[in-house]
Amino acid sequence: MFADMADEIAAIGAQDPRAPIHLHRADLPFKKLDSPWYRIALRRVAAAAQPRSYLEIGVKEGGSLAVVLDASAALERITLCDFFTVNEKKRGHRDVAAAQLTSRGFAGQVTWIDGSSTVTVPTIIESFDLVGVDGSHRRAICAADLRNVLPRVTVGGHIVVDDLSLYEDHRLAQVFDEFAAEFADQVSVVYRTTEAWPGVGVLRRNA
Ligand SMILES: C[S@@+](CC[C@H](N)C(=O)[O-])C[C@H]1O[C@@H](n2cnc3c(N)ncnc32)[C@H](O)[C@@H]1O
Repeated sequence: MFADMADEIAAIGAQDPRAPIHLHRADLPFKKLDSPWYRIALRRVAAAAQPRSYLEIGVKEGGSLAVVLDASAALERITLCDFFTVNEKKRGHRDVAAAQLTSRGFAGQVTWIDGSSTVTVPTIIESFDLVGVDGSHRRAICAADLRNVLPRVTVGGHIVVDDLSLYEDHRLAQVFDEFAAEFADQVSVVYRTTEAWPGVGVLRRNA
């Protein structure tokens, strides 16, 4: 197991960027760290699609942000949503996430949006080529996040959703599937796994 997040991110970055999104146990270079499959799926989508803009719900210390930054040479604009100031711990997380941007010399536009995604995302006027959804694990909030991000994804862009099988009832997989079915005229499922705990899903906006 790796000692810290930087080692994990480096290990994900060392993987073949042309690898398909489909995940295999052998791809996992560590035993138990935050959101490994989510980060690997994000890395592969970003490496393949080269997004110019990225919206992230659920930033914490910027682990997934760092993976996207490392894979996206064309990235110009990033919007980050989380509870960044609700307490000292969250402020500390925000500082670590900010350091991920600084240490990589990211010179593009960065917007930090503080508060619940259910309230903040509907206020966003820009669209994004890539969206990461890794905020609340509550069914209703994840469903709201997906509905709120859809009109903010560019056609051809992707939504990556973490934690589909985090809980035994696979509640976020149900949310993901219901969303994909309801909006089948706009999105297609590029990849979905509940086998590789805690699961991850990737949607592409087609229309
Ligand atoms: C698992 S962490 C994100 C980890 C990060 N994506 C990574 O892979 O490194 C989940 C984050 O979602 C945030 N969060 C939870 N509910 C939220 C909500 N309703 N709106 C915005 N952020 C939320 C939490 O504060 C926490 O920082």
